[in-house]
Amino acid sequence: MAEPLLINERVRARADTLGAALDAHMLASFAPDARKVLRRFSAGEVADLLGISTSFLRKLHFDGKAPEVETSQGGRRQYSADDILTLRRTLDGGKTSYLPNRRLGEKLQVLSFLNFKGGSGKTTSTIHTAQRLALKGYRVLCVDVDPQASLTVLFGYRPEYDFLDQGTLYDALRYDDPLPLSAVIQDTFFPGIDLVPAGLMLQEFEHETPRALIDNVQPAFYARMAATLSEVEADYDVVLFDCPPQLGYLTMSALCASTSVMITIVPNMLDVASMAQFLQMSADLLDVVADAGAPMSFDFMRFLINRYEPNDGPQQQVVSFLRTLFKDEVMVAPMLKSTAISDAGLTQQTIYEVERTQFNRQTYDRALESLNAVNDEIEQLLHHAWRR
Ligand SMILES: Nc1ncnc2c1ncn2[C@@H]1O[C@H](COP(=O)(O)OP(=O)(O)O)[C@@H](O)[C@H]1O
Ligand SMILES: [Mg+2]
Repeated sequence: MAEPLLINERVRARADTLGAALDAHMLASFAPDARKVLRRFSAGEVADLLGISTSFLRKLHFDGKAPEVETSQGGRRQYSADDILTLRRTLDGGKTSYLPNRRLGEKLQVLSFLNFKGGSGKTTSTIHTAQRLALKGYRVLCVDVDPQASLTVLFGYRPEYDFLDQGTLYDALRYDDPLPLSAVIQDTFFPGIDLVPAGLMLQEFEHETPRALIDNVQPAFYARMAATLSEVEADYDVVLFDCPPQLGYLTMSALCASTSVMITIVPNMLDVASMAQFLQMSADLLDVVADAGAPMSFDFMRFLINRYEPNDGPQQQVVSFLRTLFKDEVMVAPMLKSTAISDAGLTQQTIYEVERTQFNRQTYDRALESLNAVNDEIEQLLHHAWRR
């Protein structure tokens, strides 16, 4: 006779198997210590990021004005992200500015990536934007607002081990004896980016908020993210919130701490229809917190088209439908659907982390070009908010 299926035991067994397999996967991808290390960048990439020519970069080395950097076996210079920052500091001071950080009077930019559809690219956009901005010299804080913790995983952490009981955003938001945000901020392998991790624990915020509302605990849920963020404000130029795929208290709290919002959308009619409901519900909820005193004045709101396929006819129609309706609120640059993005995702990496040589060149270049265009457009929006 077959063994009875005890669902609790079966689920636990599968959890253990999967956990061990994922550890092995991380080890295989990021040997020897299963921790991520950022690759080095070529002279061409560095010149591009700094906005100078490769011959000028060579001249800097010749004149002894550039830091000593590693060279590859073939004798090519290879720059770490820290080398790029050193170059920025060296070059700055003349007519052109190489340090883009916000100046006196320019307020912290807090951008939420939002949509209640899972898989619309919130996490993918958040990390690519964070990395591009960091490579351009900004000080970035990523906040993982999703209990599923995908962003935390992409930074090489294992939420179920590293932050099982403590160390997530929850500890800074909780109603009972919250920690300062600085106590949960983690360094990352990527210079210029810090992370506030997430984990399942974060879900507690959704459960505890109704009680806290009844007890009138201050600050209320919608003001808690802004309150905790204010402690570390001076350390960053840009904060990015990766929101969960639902309109709960966490999302509302992130939104109410934001200065701008990016709504990611996959251009098909079902997703557009569900976005209509999402926008309706968001507006209703925002009315409620606005009445309670939450600030509603934003610098910008944009729709970001993701998984864009230029040769797909129906998609084209949906995109032009959206552009007609929302005009310049639709980002000019879409994120292309690309196997380079999903392949990089298999080893929990981004397009900026992987080596071009591991990919089909054309595929890689198209994905890179598309992501750079999106992120440089976002950079322009930040500059506009700073009135540069
Ligand atoms: N433009 C794209 N091209 C190919 N794959 C993508 C693209 N954007 C996202 N993906 C993949 O789709 C999956 C879901 O994306 P994700 O960013 O996690 O969505 P969300 O955070 O909105 O749930 C991920 O595996 C990601 O690698
Ligand atoms: Mg996500």
